Amino acid sequence: MELDIRSYLHAGSTGPALSGLRLRIEPASLTVVAGGAGSGKSTLAGIMAGYLPGRTGGLLAGRILLAGQQVEYAGEAPAVNLRQWVRHVACVPQDARAYLSLVRSTVEEELAFGLENNGLPQPEMAARIAAVARQLDLAGLLQRSPAGLSGGQERLVAIAAAAVTGADVLVLDEPLAGLDAAAAGRVAAMVRRLRAAGTAVVVLTQALDGLAAEASHAVLLRGGTLIAEGPGAVRRHAAAAGVVVPGARPEAAPAGPPAEADTVLEYRGVGFSHPVPRRRRLRRRGHAGEAPAGAQLLAGVSLAVRAGECVALTGPNGSGKTTLLKMALGLVRPGAGTVSVAGLDAARAPLDALAAAAGFLFQNPADQLFERTVLREVAFGPPGARPEPPAVAEALEACGLAGLAQAHPYELPASQRRLVALATVLARKPRVLVLDEPTVSLDGHARALLGRILAAASGRGAAVLLSTHDLEFARSHCHRVVSLGPDGIREDSSPLPPGTETGIRDPAGP
Ligand SMILES: Nc1ncnc2c1ncn2[C@@H]1O[C@H](COP(=O)(O)OP(=O)(O)OP(=O)(O)O)[C@@H](O)[C@H]1O
Ligand SMILES: [Mg+2]
Repeated sequence: MELDIRSYLHAGSTGPALSGLRLRIEPASLTVVAGGAGSGKSTLAGIMAGYLPGRTGGLLAGRILLAGQQVEYAGEAPAVNLRQWVRHVACVPQDARAYLSLVRSTVEEELAFGLENNGLPQPEMAARIAAVARQLDLAGLLQRSPAGLSGGQERLVAIAAAAVTGADVLVLDEPLAGLDAAAAGRVAAMVRRLRAAGTAVVVLTQALDGLAAEASHAVLLRGGTLIAEGPGAVRRHAAAAGVVVPGARPEAAPAGPPAEADTVLEYRGVGFSHPVPRRRRLRRRGHAGEAPAGAQLLAGVSLAVRAGECVALTGPNGSGKTTLLKMALGLVRPGAGTVSVAGLDAARAPLDALAAAAGFLFQNPADQLFERTVLREVAFGPPGARPEPPAVAEALEACGLAGLAQAHPYELPASQRRLVALATVLARKPRVLVLDEPTVSLDGHARALLGRILAAASGRGAAVLLSTHDLEFARSHCHRVVSLGPDGIREDSSPLPPGTETGIRDPAGP
């Protein structure tokens, strides 16, 4: 694939989202496109995937060569044959859930979906699915409904569904976001295997993570233009361009609240099992490696968060972090034990009383945002419980959104979209903040902003419980890090996992 993008203009925007970008994607290569929020990465992904400009009204001027066919763009969008295109390019977007059809009843069928149009014989289809499921350790999920997956599991399944198509070019937007270390390692290993078989892989990222270290080619975007090319140059300019560069020595953890501070969020002996779906009750046995449906997910979980304290909850994908966090808002009821929030029993208190005491940031902002402007979103509330206008303005300011009040949340880069969701929570000034993976999709600048927001929230006496896979962030900005595992909650004092400090290798650098 070769791209020569002279300019790309989104419908209704005045400046180009991309300009003067040339990329040659060779077989067996790994191209890393790094950039902060709004740098043009997702626009580039959309063009590579063949859905931009499509019918969006966007204007592309340039030339794309794909599998020997050249498409010229001169403002007007030539109709590309998307069915042909997706045979060559598979693209997992930043919101991985969007890649899944979610109409299939099992993960296995979801994986078969992308193959059905390829006319592959059934045995070959089954073999391919089994291979990719093995590589990404998905065997235990194949019979599960795609609609009930954890955030990390959703991303893995989407990556598997794209990889299984056998496309020549695999485009992955933030493939490691929200994955635990083991899953991230499996994705990296799969990328190596695909490359060895000739697949070209393109990774778009706002962090120079483990995959970036293996890039054969790297470019850095800022404001839609290429500002650095080659692994060394990209690494040198990354931080200034808003890209997260892991391995920066974690800042010293801030001091926690005084010992006499009240506990405002408390889990006591919490247990939880998913109900056995009707469809599965008829089956005799689960698949190897899978906890049978209905098996205990959480048992004996106890955790107390005090006023003014910020606690980070880590733990593998699927360990139950989201499930646990949702209990604080009464969105999930514990099967055993109690969850108390500002003195309320979360399983019994009226939802409006809970919502006044606690604010929840959903793991996927798509579950949180539904208004047509940023301002309406942040000012939203049921009658009688709307945030005060000064609090709305303050939340917008704190999240760096003051100039974007009239923007449509879905036209903002993902990093800012998450900040909009966070602002909706902050505007209510809840005593308890429950944030599910707030660092995911934030670029470097927004991550620093989040650090300041957490400090301000705990400074005013709020209790914060956040889940994250980003230990470096947790160690620098939270008072305590705890991890959730099969035996419940443990204080986490493990050293940063090896590989966290990897960035793009700089052949000339130190
Ligand atoms: N209806 C259901 N039936 C069975 N299992 C389910 C159901 N809904 C969710 N699960 C499983 O419960 C487990 C816990 O999910 P949860 O979202 O709490 O995990 P998590 O720790 O937040 O993971 P991640 O780090 O990926 O966000 C996952 O394995 C998930 O697939
Ligand atoms: Mg989760």
